[in-house]
Amino acid sequence: MVNPYKESAGNKKDQVTLMFDNIAWRYDFLNHFLSLGTDRRWRKKAIGLLSEVSPKKILDVACGTGDLAIEALKLKPAVIIGVDISEGMLAKGREKLERKNLEKIITLIQGDSEALQFDDQTFDAAMVAFGVRNFEDLKKGLAEILRVLKPGGLLVVLEFSKPRNFLFKNIFNFYFFRILPFFGRLFSKDMSAYSYLPASVNAFPDRVDFLEIMKKTGFTDTGYEELTMGIACLYHGKKELFTK
Ligand SMILES: C[S@@+](CC[C@H](N)C(=O)[O-])C[C@H]1O[C@@H](n2cnc3c(N)ncnc32)[C@H](O)[C@@H]1O
Repeated sequence: MVNPYKESAGNKKDQVTLMFDNIAWRYDFLNHFLSLGTDRRWRKKAIGLLSEVSPKKILDVACGTGDLAIEALKLKPAVIIGVDISEGMLAKGREKLERKNLEKIITLIQGDSEALQFDDQTFDAAMVAFGVRNFEDLKKGLAEILRVLKPGGLLVVLEFSKPRNFLFKNIFNFYFFRILPFFGRLFSKDMSAYSYLPASVNAFPDRVDFLEIMKKTGFTDTGYEELTMGIACLYHGKKELFTK
């Protein structure tokens, strides 16, 4: 298992929480800076997929500072609930919602994706952007999302993946493993967070391997598409309309 702070004794969940608490103040800036704004395009694509089910109640798992939830307002839902384990990230997100006057529709609350505090069949749609890679127990996290989705509900997952084109992969890896950690350290003052990012992507099951886990969890109609030459993938899956 890849943990953020190799020398620290805590489990992955505690370390991930601490890491995001530490970098929350710089998270949005570094996201847009290090991805040259590409993360915004990816989020738009993810929300585009959700439009298929016209969701009224949306759950944003590992919502961080709430950018995906804000993008989801385009779907004109009645309610969006964002859940995250890091109070630091949530606090930044709440400041943003307050500034934009969006607190009536979007609520950000602390919670663990592996033990969601909602009743079965609560949400029409769920989404996770760059969160699943950080779960301590991926299968448990996905099973919890499936549980709180209504029958026919849709899950969309945006996550980094490993590019495959030989030339592009080498150029990208030089950026991802060398340049990005340097600027990440410089701006966030956290010595590990932006080395953990490429290391955790490298260890994460991407493409069909991730779909397999979704299917084993119980999601149906699964599929994925590569984004930006495979730097990221957009996955989707549904909760069966009729359970046996
Ligand atoms: C890379 S950030 C992504 C935030 C946001 N979704 C975005 O797109 O910017 C990953 C987030 O996952 C959260 N996270 C990690 N493990 C979690 C868990 N078990 N339950 C809830 N949130 C978790 C972290 O606190 C962090 O805010």
